[in-house]
Amino acid sequence: MNDSKSEQVKRFLAEPDVHQKWIGTYYCAENETFYEQAFDYIISILKAPKNSTFLDAGCGNCAHSIRLANRVFSVQAVDFSESVLKMAEANVKTKKLEDKIKIQREDITALSFEDKSFNYILCWGVLMHIPNIEKAISELTRVLKPGGTLVIAENNMYSLYSITIRNLKRLLGKGKGVAKKVPSGVEHWSTTPTGTLVTRHANIQWLLKRFKSNQFVVKKRIAGQFTQLYTRVSSRPLKSLIHGFNNLWFRYIKNPHLAFGNIVILQKMRDEATDIL
Ligand SMILES: C[S@@+](CC[C@H](N)C(=O)[O-])C[C@H]1O[C@@H](n2cnc3c(N)ncnc32)[C@H](O)[C@@H]1O
Repeated sequence: MNDSKSEQVKRFLAEPDVHQKWIGTYYCAENETFYEQAFDYIISILKAPKNSTFLDAGCGNCAHSIRLANRVFSVQAVDFSESVLKMAEANVKTKKLEDKIKIQREDITALSFEDKSFNYILCWGVLMHIPNIEKAISELTRVLKPGGTLVIAENNMYSLYSITIRNLKRLLGKGKGVAKKVPSGVEHWSTTPTGTLVTRHANIQWLLKRFKSNQFVVKKRIAGQFTQLYTRVSSRPLKSLIHGFNNLWFRYIKNPHLAFGNIVILQKMRDEATDIL
């Protein structure tokens, strides 16, 4: 049902422009500080043995694969966009991490890996762009080993930021494209001559339920960035203030329910039959 939409999104994400725009917007110095703190915290929860291998599903330019490699893990980085994989390869080469990070072109909704291939999977900011999210969830479940851990980062449709932006757009009659409420969240569809992009503000409860019905337990739900308002203002001091507030929220307030960014750590239950063998 979602196939033609999936093809349109694939075509859009094949182009380098959107990735360059994301890199310019999200990989500023303040966000680097945030990501470094967030990864230290996530890794402290995972307690993964050194040299464990992570699947970085939807790796983009490999910024997070590099963070994992710098924390002495190995990474199998995958993305379906050839243009972003070229950027990823150049990044990994510059950091001389070719031994630690292997890059491969893969579609998360049809992964070529065997069942139960990975102990750890990172899927950061990716499910929100996949029209057939159910298929992506089932593939991530399939390739994760029983007892393995999946870390996802998604945007929360019930955050103050998401609700405010939605209502402001409605009131002002603004916003390009089409917003659609679906069980998995609020999807914003925008179309250009090269294709279509979906960005979903997730219904986190729906996501958790889906993973639970795929034999996962929720280990932790963490607040990510409280707001992405910094992407909408141009004043430097205002941007810094917003980043400061995001850090305050992440470090001290920690409530994920009101925060836009949500990081969820899920563990796939052990397969009793396999454990006995
Ligand atoms: C917003 S970017 C996030 C990239 C990276 N995880 C990060 O946080 O920097 C989303 C990435 O997911 C990739 N992606 C989206 N759908 C995918 C799919 N079905 N299979 C593989 N990659 C996909 C896109 O090409 C893009 O690089």
